[in-house]
Amino acid sequence: MNETVAKKWRILVINGPNLNLLGQRETGIYGALTLADIETACRRKADTLGIAIDFFQSNHEGALVERIQAAAGVHDWIVINPAAYTHTSVAIRDALLAVNIPTIEVHLSNIHRREPFRHHSYVSDIAVGVIAGLGAEGYLYALEAGAQRLASKAGP
Ligand code: DQA
Repeated sequence: MNETVAKKWRILVINGPNLNLLGQRETGIYGALTLADIETACRRKADTLGIAIDFFQSNHEGALVERIQAAAGVHDWIVINPAAYTHTSVAIRDALLAVNIPTIEVHLSNIHRREPFRHHSYVSDIAVGVIAGLGAEGYLYALEAGAQRLASKAGP
C-alpha cells in the first residue's frame, strides 16, 4: 500500500424515525426529496471530499443506539438527524457520549421556529455543531465541516 495516500476518513450519517418517509411526509416542512435522494447527494459530496460514508436510518431507538455503539473504532465523525428522538432520547445522547466521536446534529427544518417541544435537543450541547433549517443541504454542509476538520487533524 502506498504510504503517501491519505487515510480515507469514514463518516457515519444516521437518520432517526420517520425520515424514511421523506418526500411524502409533511413536504411543506421537510421538502420533496426522499431519504434515498439525500443519501445519493451525501455519497456524491463524500466522493468530492475524498471521504467514505455509511448511511443508516432506523425508526427504532435501540437500533440507533446500537449503530452508534458499533461506530467506535470504525468512524471518525458522526452526522446525525435524530428526528423526534432529538427531543426525547437520553439513550442516544449517552451512546454518543460513550463512543466519544465528534458529532454534528442536523435537522431539515429549523426546529427553533417550530413548536416549543422541538426547541430542546438532548444532542445539541454535546455536538460540535448544529445545522437546522437548511433542508437536505444541511447534511452536505455537515459532511464538509467534518471532512475539513478531519483533514486539518491529519495535516502537518
Ligand atoms: C427533524 C425535526 C424533528 O423535530 C422531527 O421530529 C423530525 C425531523 C428535522 O429534520 O427537521 O422528524 O429532525
